Amino acid sequence: MDNDIINWNNLLANQSDFQEKKPFKFTFVKKIFHEKFYEKLYGEFPNISERWNKASDHSKLQYNLLWGSKKSTLEIAEDEEDHNFSKEWNTFKKYCHTDEFIRNFREFSGVPVSKVKHFHFISLKKGCFQLPHIHNVGPSTLICMLYFSKNWKEGEPGGTYMANEEDESSLIFEPYDLDNSIAIFQDSEFAAHGTRYLTNDVERRALQITLEGYDNINGWSGGTPIRKM
Ligand SMILES: [Fe+2]
Repeated sequence: MDNDIINWNNLLANQSDFQEKKPFKFTFVKKIFHEKFYEKLYGEFPNISERWNKASDHSKLQYNLLWGSKKSTLEIAEDEEDHNFSKEWNTFKKYCHTDEFIRNFREFSGVPVSKVKHFHFISLKKGCFQLPHIHNVGPSTLICMLYFSKNWKEGEPGGTYMANEEDESSLIFEPYDLDNSIAIFQDSEFAAHGTRYLTNDVERRALQITLEGYDNINGWSGGTPIRKM
């Protein structure tokens, strides 16, 4: 069953692109899920509703939907079921917490991640944005944005862009195929990213998964989160 979820070959095909990228490591992979499983996730992706939290401040406007018992995007993800979501979404969530899932991302990236730190949905509609920013919590954090938006137009704002600085004009990559794809980057002092202001009446649907190094003595390599990612 687990073999039918993520298309690991497609991820691995982008390994050198990721590992050789400058000024920080990132890549973009199409068809990250096996098609059949993706369509089930896509069909059950939750619509923006009163269950979602509107995150609005000077730096962003976005809608977040949390998993299970979590009350904030800052809380650490736990391996728990949530029956507000479909069977396939629960299967995928459970799979994210397995050694196989974490090991494959660790081997692909060369980044020593050992656990899921965050797992939440982020949807954007007209008027949403996130200013370019850098987390810089350390070298053992991988941020994954998985996309569930069909018929995205070339050049349309909404995908997470990568930039040379905390300045939108220094944008170096922005994804447009947001139907079954993933943008991945390694956190660092150079890992600038954000989302351009959505000017059209569209809905960008994504899931953020943060993987990070963790051990029982020192805890999370990136420490306890102090701000939203
Ligand atoms: Fe971020």
